Amino acid sequence: MKILVTGGAGYIGSHTVLCLLEQGYDVVVVDNLCNASEESLRRVATITGKAATFIQADIRDTIALDAIFEQQQVSAVIHFAALKAVGESSVIPLSYYENNVAGTVNLLEVMQKHEVKNFIFSSSATVYGEANAVPYKEDMPLGNPSSPYGTSKVMVEKIMMDVVNANPQFRGVSLRYFNPIGAHESGMIGEDPKGIPNNLLPFVAQVAVGKREKLSIFGDDYPTEDGTCERDYLHVMDLAEGHVAALNWLNKEQSFTGFEAFNLGTGNGTSVLAIVNAFEQATKVNIPYQISPRRAGDLPAFWANAEKAKTALGWTAKRDLTTMMEDTWRWQSGNPDGYAE
Ligand SMILES: NC(=O)c1ccc[n+]([C@@H]2O[C@H](COP(=O)([O-])OP(=O)(O)OC[C@H]3O[C@@H](n4cnc5c(N)ncnc54)[C@H](O)[C@@H]3O)[C@@H](O)[C@H]2O)c1
Repeated sequence: MKILVTGGAGYIGSHTVLCLLEQGYDVVVVDNLCNASEESLRRVATITGKAATFIQADIRDTIALDAIFEQQQVSAVIHFAALKAVGESSVIPLSYYENNVAGTVNLLEVMQKHEVKNFIFSSSATVYGEANAVPYKEDMPLGNPSSPYGTSKVMVEKIMMDVVNANPQFRGVSLRYFNPIGAHESGMIGEDPKGIPNNLLPFVAQVAVGKREKLSIFGDDYPTEDGTCERDYLHVMDLAEGHVAALNWLNKEQSFTGFEAFNLGTGNGTSVLAIVNAFEQATKVNIPYQISPRRAGDLPAFWANAEKAKTALGWTAKRDLTTMMEDTWRWQSGNPDGYAE
C-alpha cells in the first residue's frame, strides 16, 4: 500500500514516515520544506534501510498535486502539512488560513478527482476550545480556539464533515494530538524548530545545550498543583504509531465511511515545572528559568480522555516521561544545530 504523507519531512511527519516504512508501507512525501529539511528523510532512510519517495511541492499547487496523484497510485493520505506557530497565527492570520485551510481544500479536491478516499488529518486538542471541561472527549462540541491556528484546525474538521455529507465514500479520520515531545530513540531525528522555539521542551533542550540563556515560564499562579500550566505530553513515537494504528483501522474497517475523531494523548496532565524537573533528572543538566507573566490564550490545564483510541484503534501511549526526556536529550545534544550542516 502506498501512502502519501504531506509535511512528511517535518517533526511528527518524519517520525510517522519512519513507522510506516518499518510497517512495510510505501511512502511518498510531499513537503515544500518551509519548516523542514530533507535531511530528516535521509536519516529516516539510514535508520530503516528503506527510503520514502520525496517530492518537493506545495499542497496549494493544484497542478503539482494533480501530477503527483497521476503518477503515484496512493491509497491514503496522511496530512501533516500546515503552519503551526500559535502566536504567529495571530500576526499573519491570512497566511494560516491560506496554507492550512485553502491548502487542505485543494488537497481534498485533488484527492476527490483521483478517487482517493482515505484521509487522516493532523488535528489538535486546541479544537476543544476554552468552554469544554477536561478531560477532553471526542463527542464534545468543537470549541472556539483562541488563535487563528486553532480555528484553522476546527475549520478543516468541519470541512471534512461536509465532504462526508456530499461524498458518502469519503473516509476521514481526525487525530487530535495533545502535546508531542521527544525524538526517535536513535537520536538521529527530532524536532528542529527554526528560530526561537514555540514549544516548551525544544526551548528547554536549547537552554541545556547553551543556545539560550534561560527558560521563561509563563505564569505560576494558575489554579494547578504547582501554579504552572498542565498539558498532556506524549512521546512523538507513540504519536507516530497512532497514525499507523489509524491507517490499519481504516484498512480493517472496510465498511466504514464518514468522519471519526480520535484523541491521541496519554490521559495525564504534567505541569511545566514537572517537565523541567524531569528533564533535569533524566539529563543531569541544570535548567535556569524565570517566571514571566501569563501568555494570552494559554489555558490552565487540559488533557485527553484517551479511551476511544484505546478501544477502537488498540492504541495507547506507552513511553514514559523519563523516556521522553532522555530521547529529547540524545537528539538535542547530538545535533545542537538540528539538521543544519
Ligand atoms: N507539534 C505539535 O505540538 C502539534 C500539536 C497538534 C497538532 N500538530 C499538527 O501536526 C502537524 C505536523 O506538525 P509538526 O509539529 O510536525 O510541524 P512541522 O512544521 O515540523 O511539520 C509541518 C510540515 O509541513 C510542511 N508544510 C507546511 N506548509 C506546507 C505546504 N503548504 N505545502 C507542503 N508542505 C508544507 C513543512 O515544511 C513541515 O515539514 C501540523 O498540521 C500541526 O498543526 C502539531
